[in-house]
Amino acid sequence: MRAVSVRNGKGGADAMFIDANVPDPVLANESILVQIEAFGLNRMDIMQREDRYPYPLLPESGKIMGVEFSGIVEKCGEGCTNRFSPGDKVFGLAYGGAYAEKIVVSEKMLMLLPPNLSFIEAAGIPETFFTAIQAIFLVGNLQPGQTVLIHAGASGVGQSAIQLARLGGASKIFTTAGSDEKCNLCKSLGAHFATNYKSGGDFAQLVEKETNSRGVDLIVDLVGRNYFHQNMKSAAMDSRMVLVAALSGSKIDDFDLRALLNKRIWLMATTLRTRDAAYQGQVRDVFLEKVMPHLKDGEVRVTVDQVYSWKDVADAHKRLESNVNAGKIICRVE
Ligand SMILES: NC(=O)c1ccc[n+]([C@@H]2O[C@H](COP(=O)([O-])OP(=O)(O)OC[C@H]3O[C@@H](n4cnc5c(N)ncnc54)[C@H](OP(=O)(O)O)[C@@H]3O)[C@@H](O)[C@H]2O)c1
Repeated sequence: MRAVSVRNGKGGADAMFIDANVPDPVLANESILVQIEAFGLNRMDIMQREDRYPYPLLPESGKIMGVEFSGIVEKCGEGCTNRFSPGDKVFGLAYGGAYAEKIVVSEKMLMLLPPNLSFIEAAGIPETFFTAIQAIFLVGNLQPGQTVLIHAGASGVGQSAIQLARLGGASKIFTTAGSDEKCNLCKSLGAHFATNYKSGGDFAQLVEKETNSRGVDLIVDLVGRNYFHQNMKSAAMDSRMVLVAALSGSKIDDFDLRALLNKRIWLMATTLRTRDAAYQGQVRDVFLEKVMPHLKDGEVRVTVDQVYSWKDVADAHKRLESNVNAGKIICRVE
């Protein structure tokens, strides 16, 4: 089959090429072979491309990038339930291998495509929504009526988290983003307040004012270093902070553990790709129960920033690296 490879195993965006000599993935017992129509880009793909992915990749990840896709079921392994059949339109999560014409994944990580979603939209759903499900519900344990602060609100994960917080009954949703357009996008998805950090906005001050100095119950942080001290100021007593990424850096200057003790803050971190298939299957089931009905009725949406032919995957990576995207960048397999 054809798949995206990286010249000499690592390099910049222009080192990627469509390799016509990649072995087909092998169908195993409880897995499903899918003909890929589209795949979504994620920042971990860039790290994998540069050979600096921070966690050991599981053997099932393989060398090919890409953790989310949409496509058509070609064949089901013998041990599969009868949930999927050849010809079904599906989308799903993978440990790797989505930048390709074909992929084999566990049936636990696959979902049927609802008629109102295109292959393009669906390819951008699994990674950000599954991550947001962890951050808001499974790890963050948001309760109806609680307040939440979501950083990088216009990122794929941020947009999903805002919508899940709304579905989960958050009373006030605060976000941060790097432009007025991105702030407006966050509000259109359900955020009550959006701070443009690039024009001098101070989210901690806003949280203080709008919560009568109480702080927020849950912080979903993707930014790390630059926001850490302000996050400590914004946290309520007995609040929770879920660290999903550290886009501005991971080392905190002048961090005093007493900041956590003073407010009994629960600091937690979560990653998705390092989880086993049973866990990912549970997240998939929460997605089907809590999110899928609202994707079908239009109450929840996925923002597609830009679509590229996979032949232009280098341009797609460059756009992601430039931070200008607001939503998912998708490649069509042609
Ligand atoms: N833990 C997990 O399991 C997991 C899963 C998926 C993704 N992630 C991570 O989560 C992060 C977001 O992923 P995504 O796919 O949602 O990203 P995305 O859609 O590409 O959006 C990222 C956005 O973050 C903002 N940003 C970048 N650097 C920043 C900085 N220094 N300070 C503040 N904001 C910054 C930029 O928007 P602005 O214009 O607003 O600055 C950028 O557009 C990535 O680091 C990704 O690797 C983690």
